[in-house]
Amino acid sequence: LQTLPPIRLAQKYFQIFPDERDPLWQNPCHDKRHKDIWSKEKTCDRLPKFLVIGPQKTGTTALHSFLALHPAITSSFPSPVSFEEVQFFSGPNYQRGIDWYMDFFPIPSNVSTDFLFEKSANYFDTEVAPKRAAALLPRAKIISILINPADRAYSWYQHQRAHQDPVALNYTFYEVISAGPSSPAALLSLHRRCLQPGAYSSHLERWLHHYQPSQLLIVDGVQLRSSPAQVMDGIQKFLGVTPYYNYTQALTFDESKGFWCQKLEAGRTRCLGKSKGRKYPEMSLESRVFLSEYYREQNVELLRMLKRLGQPLPIWLRDELHNAS
Ligand code: A3P
Repeated sequence: LQTLPPIRLAQKYFQIFPDERDPLWQNPCHDKRHKDIWSKEKTCDRLPKFLVIGPQKTGTTALHSFLALHPAITSSFPSPVSFEEVQFFSGPNYQRGIDWYMDFFPIPSNVSTDFLFEKSANYFDTEVAPKRAAALLPRAKIISILINPADRAYSWYQHQRAHQDPVALNYTFYEVISAGPSSPAALLSLHRRCLQPGAYSSHLERWLHHYQPSQLLIVDGVQLRSSPAQVMDGIQKFLGVTPYYNYTQALTFDESKGFWCQKLEAGRTRCLGKSKGRKYPEMSLESRVFLSEYYREQNVELLRMLKRLGQPLPIWLRDELHNAS
């Protein structure tokens, strides 16, 4: 084997180890053998200290924008192709390798005090993401935001409609969530994409398989929406980031937007764009009842998990299980 030329050697190798075709990137600086062959021009410091993993539609953009206000926290550069998110651990970008990933981050001015991070909301429910993230960033902290999975599904459906998804435009929300095996394939696919991220406890268990409970923070998205300064204080503590940044002074409630926004000078505000905080009719009672039942087991599991982890219970979760019992 040793004497084969490189391409034939590779072919032979993958014949013997077909499972290894999919790379698993590790931090070159965590292994002396890798570090020794890592170019002197490169650094291992252009990697995030924490990830905001989603899921989608829970307030991840708001959290991202609030975090970016902190003087010691630096976001990844926006990706021009995937709604600004890097989406490295979740899809085909992973094949591009860690140099590609590192290029999304600046070289920190002070490695021990600067907190680089990125937010990709589909990491949460992508099967391979926790394993890949833990291989490259074993010491990272992980932040997830949760709202009632029924509200998340409804917000996601509205998002698809706003983006002119023909299937979402063609079917009511109830038709999407109640679709079954005999439904058209396109409707079933939308059904799955709409509901699958809301199986919170299953997805979180997968993250906990690769990260210690102390590395994971679950943020109540309803609280983030109503009292962001309080939530940001908790996040600063969890990250151990200094100096303390006063979000009570930095944020203000914008009456016309109906959400908390960055406070600028002369009474002005900077809010998220129109696609965040959309106006749409309330979810029908029929859908609410359906989803309460649909997610019941997952919500019960989530409650158990949060108790086990000693993490506070989101108010929406108490309410949901109280109403459903
Ligand atoms: P809606 O547009 O359905 O109301 P994400 O950024 O993860 O896609 O989440 C979008 C959701 O964030 C919005 O869903 C909105 O309810 C919520 N959100 C929470 N805080 C917000 C804020 N300060 N500004 C705008 N949207 C906020």
